[in-house]
Amino acid sequence: MRIDVLTLFPAMLDGFLSESMLGRACEAKLLEINVRNIRDWATDKHRTTDDRPFGGGAGMVMKCEPVVAAIEAVQTPGCRRIYLTPDGVPFTAAKAEALAKEQHLVFLSGHYEGIDQRIRDTVIDEEISIGDYVLTNGTLAAAVVIDALARFIPGVLGEEKSLTHESFTRKLLDFPQYTRPAEYRGMSVPEVLLSGNHTAIEKWRTARQEEKTRQVRPDLLK
Ligand code: ADE
Repeated sequence: MRIDVLTLFPAMLDGFLSESMLGRACEAKLLEINVRNIRDWATDKHRTTDDRPFGGGAGMVMKCEPVVAAIEAVQTPGCRRIYLTPDGVPFTAAKAEALAKEQHLVFLSGHYEGIDQRIRDTVIDEEISIGDYVLTNGTLAAAVVIDALARFIPGVLGEEKSLTHESFTRKLLDFPQYTRPAEYRGMSVPEVLLSGNHTAIEKWRTARQEEKTRQVRPDLLK
């Protein structure tokens, strides 16, 4: 899969791409991620990418020309162009799984004050929000979406099994995990996990998942 990220803050993604499993996926050619600075498509002397809003109001609005030029420079036939914005459709695991099947994704990260509506009307296919809070720009939101969808690309996760344990595909929160030592500061690992009885372990884990979901996210059970 090819991914292009268009942002005014490309350096924000350096660590994300070099340190995570995403870096390894890129090296293994499972993924190609290009981070592009929108400012490179600004044509005036000051390389302006934003301007004051018509009608007044606080903040600046990203201009059509550089943003549309950037998208037109990287887009390919059939690609999906996604704008990250707090007023987009809420992001879910189901959306991550669907996006992982695409050939080419273009992510546009904007100013939180917004971008000219004509950009959204002409060169954006889909708008995504990662939650009901406002970030200073959409670059980290793009990273969140890319990280979540990459886990659905075969080969990106070291152990394919981890996805079958994925709680959100089943709409339940995760069960508690333990590793060695079996006793730490007087706290013991639940007996059943040491029993080797896989049926009992599965049953115990499902019960803990239901308990946790009831406590923390009762909305998932409805
Ligand atoms: N840009 C700023 N805040 C955002 C959010 N919550 N989701 C996606 N993009 C954003």
